[in-house]
Amino acid sequence: MLSTDKLIILEEANSTQDIAIEMARQGAHDGTAVMTLNQTAGRGRMGRSWASPSGKNLALSFIIRPSCEPSLAPLYGLMASVAAAQTVEAFCLNTLVQVKWPNDVIVEGRKIAGILPQAQVINNNVEFVIVGLGLNVNSAMEDFPVDIIDKVTSMADLSGESFDLTSVARSFLSYMKALRDGPADISFKKTLELWNSKWAHRGCYVNRTGIEGIAEGIDVTGALLVRAKGGELLKISSGEVNF
Ligand code: BTN
Repeated sequence: MLSTDKLIILEEANSTQDIAIEMARQGAHDGTAVMTLNQTAGRGRMGRSWASPSGKNLALSFIIRPSCEPSLAPLYGLMASVAAAQTVEAFCLNTLVQVKWPNDVIVEGRKIAGILPQAQVINNNVEFVIVGLGLNVNSAMEDFPVDIIDKVTSMADLSGESFDLTSVARSFLSYMKALRDGPADISFKKTLELWNSKWAHRGCYVNRTGIEGIAEGIDVTGALLVRAKGGELLKISSGEVNF
């Protein structure tokens, strides 16, 4: 195991998310990050698995010990998606990088990064939030399962170059640090502004069981706001939406 600063680099791990959760339970400090070069049992959102071909993509989990109320904890997922988008922009110049609610990062509609935010709340106090980042860095399209090839991309696919995974990780961590700088309310405001400026689906039609209308924005907790035909403003706080 190689440890520099607060970034721990593991040759192999089942899931950096599980490792970071355990480290946080054992008292690891805010800002500690763990990445692996070979994640063998990556977890995605909604109970899905997350595939990361060995040595090619970034699998990283980051420990945050926030001082915010539980309803605001999901904002760290949005923050991580903004930081991941900024990272892709920094390495793949002239690329329009966007976000999809709640936490996906996309380029021309194809997913390049996913975020898995997980919070531990005890007695209405947020003990920690772990943000897991899966970022497609050096994967070629043939590395992905056939059924998702037309839905994904990678930094190498966009630029024709390959990138050092540790440098990409450090870039992500420095964007996170910049976004978290200052009091939480200012940091969340900045996050919401940036997220909105990168949002791909403002004004798009949404139809998710029971909720149908036009995506209008997000509220201060990061929930998706949908304007129904009758004018009512509906809220989707979690899950996924197809546009
Ligand atoms: C998604 O479903 O879009 C979120 C994917 C998150 C994957 C990352 S990879 C690093 C961390 N470890 C995991 O097991 N999952 C997250």
